[in-house]
Amino acid sequence: PKESNWDGGYLYQYQGCWCPSLSFQGLISFQRHFQAHDTDVILITPPKSGTTWLKALAFAIANRMHYPLSQSPLLTSNPHHLVPFLEFNIYHENPFPNLENIHSPRIFSTHTPYALLPSSIKDSKCKIVYLCRNPLDRLVSYWHFIGKLRPETVEAISLDQLVDMFCRGLTAYGPFWDHVLGYWKASQEMPNKVLFLQYEDMKVEIVSPLKTLADFMGCPFSLDEEKQGMVEEIASFCSFNNLKELEVNKTGKFHTGKQNNVFFRKGEVGDWANYLTPGMVERMEKLMEEKLEGSTSKRRGRG
Ligand code: A3P
Repeated sequence: PKESNWDGGYLYQYQGCWCPSLSFQGLISFQRHFQAHDTDVILITPPKSGTTWLKALAFAIANRMHYPLSQSPLLTSNPHHLVPFLEFNIYHENPFPNLENIHSPRIFSTHTPYALLPSSIKDSKCKIVYLCRNPLDRLVSYWHFIGKLRPETVEAISLDQLVDMFCRGLTAYGPFWDHVLGYWKASQEMPNKVLFLQYEDMKVEIVSPLKTLADFMGCPFSLDEEKQGMVEEIASFCSFNNLKELEVNKTGKFHTGKQNNVFFRKGEVGDWANYLTPGMVERMEKLMEEKLEGSTSKRRGRG
């Protein structure tokens, strides 16, 4: 089955997931050919959940021995350039990319649901970091994102229609609740394999999630580093305000020609209240309640 996606493409139903046409071939090649290494770190998010932030944090953690922050590649490259998407970038461009010579830990990212991950990711000892975000904020964030990329489409769809699509499961890599539950269950069953993070928690307090992330990635901060304030330095380097103001993220372009600034809008929790009507909120919350019923990830899905 195929449904029109208001962003100008389609969503294809594939193995229970709604895959955007833009990355569909890339997803299939990734699923068939990717060979995970035990040392890999795979960052996984539903779109618009803070992927850019997570990429910057993971890159800064893993590379702090190679470059001081004053010389970090993050100063001159967008996080999506340094940590590419497997389905959008790597396998979209080449079904058989050579990924063997990248130094470890290799850090990749994807929006792929757990059920569709290549078996080599599930069977190897590689690590999965999952970040999710309140779906109300995600929806508003996505609406603005597409609006910046394709201004004509924001006029072509109302938020009401977008909420309706969300509630029918019709979102990129959706249904959203299957995405969250897949990784939530995996994180409960395999806590050493899957780390489950939430955007809202990281906005309240970043230092402890940052340390957890570094421990999980196998790059823990030493006592000396902690004393020297390295954790706080990375947190503030990767903060929304700092990354957004870097020249590369203000005026630079992604290789596809997109402006890097589309990845930085407001970076806040609760902006949905400025856009969604009480009726839209009630509909989405009721559905989340139903779909996540009986799961301890309920709060996590709703934020
Ligand atoms: P808003 O549109 O609500 O501002 P993704 O990176 O998955 O595409 O998600 C984009 C969202 O994350 C946007 O949310 C963006 O502003 C926010 N974001 C980007 N960088 C961030 C950072 N360093 N800290 C917090 N939020 C960030």
